[in-house]
Amino acid sequence: MRDGDTGVERMAFQEEHNIIGESLEMQEIVQVIQQVAPTDITVLVTGESGVGKEVVAQAIHAASRRTKKQMVTVNCGAIPEGIIESELFGHEKGSFTGASDSRKGYFELADGGTIFLDEIGELPTGTQVKFLRILENGEFMRVGSSTTKKVDVRVIAATNKDLEHEVYTKHFRPDLFYRLRSVNVRIPSLRERRDDVSLFFARFAKDFGEKNNITFLGISDEAMGLLTQYYWPGNVRELRNVVESMLVIENGRRLTADDVRKYLKGSHTNGDERNLPVYIPKSAESAERELIYRALVDLKTDIMDMKNLLINGGASTALVRRETISGASGEIHDKAFVHPVPSEEGVSLEEMERKMIIGSLQKYEGNRRLAAQSLKISERTLYRKIKEYGLQ
Ligand SMILES: Nc1ncnc2c1ncn2[C@@H]1O[C@H](COP(=O)(O)OP(=O)(O)OP(=O)(O)O)[C@@H](O)[C@H]1O
Ligand SMILES: [Mg+2]
Repeated sequence: MRDGDTGVERMAFQEEHNIIGESLEMQEIVQVIQQVAPTDITVLVTGESGVGKEVVAQAIHAASRRTKKQMVTVNCGAIPEGIIESELFGHEKGSFTGASDSRKGYFELADGGTIFLDEIGELPTGTQVKFLRILENGEFMRVGSSTTKKVDVRVIAATNKDLEHEVYTKHFRPDLFYRLRSVNVRIPSLRERRDDVSLFFARFAKDFGEKNNITFLGISDEAMGLLTQYYWPGNVRELRNVVESMLVIENGRRLTADDVRKYLKGSHTNGDERNLPVYIPKSAESAERELIYRALVDLKTDIMDMKNLLINGGASTALVRRETISGASGEIHDKAFVHPVPSEEGVSLEEMERKMIIGSLQKYEGNRRLAAQSLKISERTLYRKIKEYGLQ
């Protein structure tokens, strides 16, 4: 087939499945989706938060022979560890306290269709063995049952974690990792495909405008330049939110650079606003070096705080000191999203933790995934703590 024909076919496919993007990276991804969709092969989709992993998973399912059956989406990071197996594989009546009925798990519900296991990196290691088995031959057992069942399910998994690193730190089974990564669709961050920013912008503005009866009056070149150069830590999701907010708040005006700055302010730009932290993509080696360096700085800070506490009898100001760190490579990295917490006599560790969680949830407008990332804890731990502190 000639290149032109393939291009037309690809664009029609993107239109049908609502996949925006003309960058080379996106074109390649769409080609892989077209190749794998008709097969039953397991696909691992990786990439930062908000890059479009679910969009890709949905397109694979929709373009497959399973499209008439449903795609069941499971967020492995949001299910408490204690019940994850019964959620995935189901359980028999009386198999644990409270199991008053037998119940199908997500795999059985997805029989004949697709299961999308989001945040696969959060799957507990014990459950990973059972998952591997179901991947190999479709076999599993409900919790509390000794009978093997079989399902016909296509698996798509996604993660924003570096699974290789998870294997290295023994949080992820190597056999499962190798099994999963045979087809790996890696979606680059938005800053790695800046050419697509204007396309996303145009489509989001058009769709949102039409849906909400807002006439979009255009955007200046300078303003579009700012959007294109922005770092987009939240990727396409963040861009969509910015477009929608601007359309609502600046309704009835052509968007200028000043307008755009208001929406990107307080976040990370590509160096335009000099007072803000600059993010520089790191190699795995320098990232690891930085982690060790940070751990050492944190340790030293903790020891100094403890010393202070002992000397001043607890009346000192305990600062959570994680200021901008110049890594060994000379790069400047972000301030960890923690703020100084004034310590009053008698303020407990729990209270400080609670305040940090509230602060982080406020900063990320309730987005638990981003809040968990900024606090450097898993989303599951954050869910547990939100419950524990009665913050919902
Ligand atoms: N190529 C794309 N075309 C159209 N919309 C996209 C594309 N990529 C992302 N989006 C939009 O961006 C938002 C985030 O996408 P999605 O939920 O698929 O990201 P994700 O990688 O799964 O994020 P997370 O890791 O946080 O779960 C959604 O509103 C989605 O529609
Ligand atoms: Mg997702």
